[in-house]
Amino acid sequence: MVRTVDAHRDIDARARDILRANDKGGFTVPTGGLYPYQWNWDSVFVALGFATFDESRACREIETLFEAQWDDGFVPHIIFRRNDPDYFPGPDVWQAGTDIPTSGITQPPVAASVVNTLWTRSSSEEIRSRLAALYPKILAWHRWFHRFRIPDGCGAVVITHPWESGRDNSPEWDAPSANIDISGVQPYQRRDLQHADADMRPTKLDYDRYIALVEFGRNAGWDHDVIGSSGPFRVADVGITMILLRATRDLIDLANRLGRDDDLEELEACLQQLVMGTNYLWDETAGTFCSRDTITGRHSGFVTNASFLNCYAAVGNEEQRDKMTAHWERISASANYMLPSHDPDDSRFDALRYWRGPIWIVVNYMLAKGFREQGLDEWAERIAADSRKIISEHGFNEAFSPISGEGSGGSDFSWTAAMWLAWCGAANEQ
Ligand code: GLC
Repeated sequence: MVRTVDAHRDIDARARDILRANDKGGFTVPTGGLYPYQWNWDSVFVALGFATFDESRACREIETLFEAQWDDGFVPHIIFRRNDPDYFPGPDVWQAGTDIPTSGITQPPVAASVVNTLWTRSSSEEIRSRLAALYPKILAWHRWFHRFRIPDGCGAVVITHPWESGRDNSPEWDAPSANIDISGVQPYQRRDLQHADADMRPTKLDYDRYIALVEFGRNAGWDHDVIGSSGPFRVADVGITMILLRATRDLIDLANRLGRDDDLEELEACLQQLVMGTNYLWDETAGTFCSRDTITGRHSGFVTNASFLNCYAAVGNEEQRDKMTAHWERISASANYMLPSHDPDDSRFDALRYWRGPIWIVVNYMLAKGFREQGLDEWAERIAADSRKIISEHGFNEAFSPISGEGSGGSDFSWTAAMWLAWCGAANEQ
């Protein structure tokens, strides 16, 4: 027992070392080499890790992210604070034309939820006022989603590039990507394969499509109206919709704490619209929440780790929840570690290839939170115990095989370290 406690203390220290090593001065890179810039949702999750030993540094991480916010409220998925030729596609490819160079697409908006959590946990007036200063910026970002990415009558959030989902190569994007024209893509050299095994990364075809979409946005001058209404890839994403829905609940909570009563009516209306959007994402045939192509109207029909975020968003009627429970029981009977990013019973499942099977600890964190809130304690405990075990046995990888537990993708990942400190590490064991 003593040995376990000591071992976990060593892991805690290692997690803090990773955050410090990846700290580039006010912002943290996801990992050295593979991802040498500031990434949107990585930074926000990382703030939860910093907050366990340095609240001020935690605030700084989110403040630097919002320094790159555009005038229309948009918050980019990458901030290129200095050029690093070791990453592709870099700022010269995106050509966003902003003072601080950024990409032209966004990522899942977890900021409201994390800021609300940090606010409630902090007892410092100074920290609380810095967090309160982020509130109007987060509100502007949510408004951006409603203005540009939530079509009338749909209610769900539309992504215009697979990278916006944060689940880059999920099989959910295979069919909607098939019509992306890659004939004009200029020759390019991938850099990711110098840092990670090709079997664990998206394929060449995936990359051609990613770059074609970047070129489309660039040619449109990153005009969000044009991209949102006529881009070649417009998919209502189950992950980002559930996350924005949850973030809206948390923003309402924060608005109440901060006395922002004037915003409440608008936020409640946004919430109702997103709840309606989850019905658009319910696939009756497959009996799951999943993403849906707004161009063809087709559901992906896939059960992914994002499908279960309905608990985090607190949505789903009794029948829908029963069907999700049946999926959980089926998947948990075959996966050694929960929760795979893609259904292990589907032919596209691949235990090592990124979002086609591996476990992602940040998604597990959101799932466990939602499960616990919904009274699904056993599910929450299973997910936390599995996350703790794979990290303590294999290290702070980017993702992990649900079959063997081994790490995949990059190593020394900031958000995995942050989740250990803030959620699944021994210090948080319940
Ligand atoms: C990959 C992941 C994405 C993450 C980024 C940086 O692109 O799919 O979710 O934000 O890496 O870690």
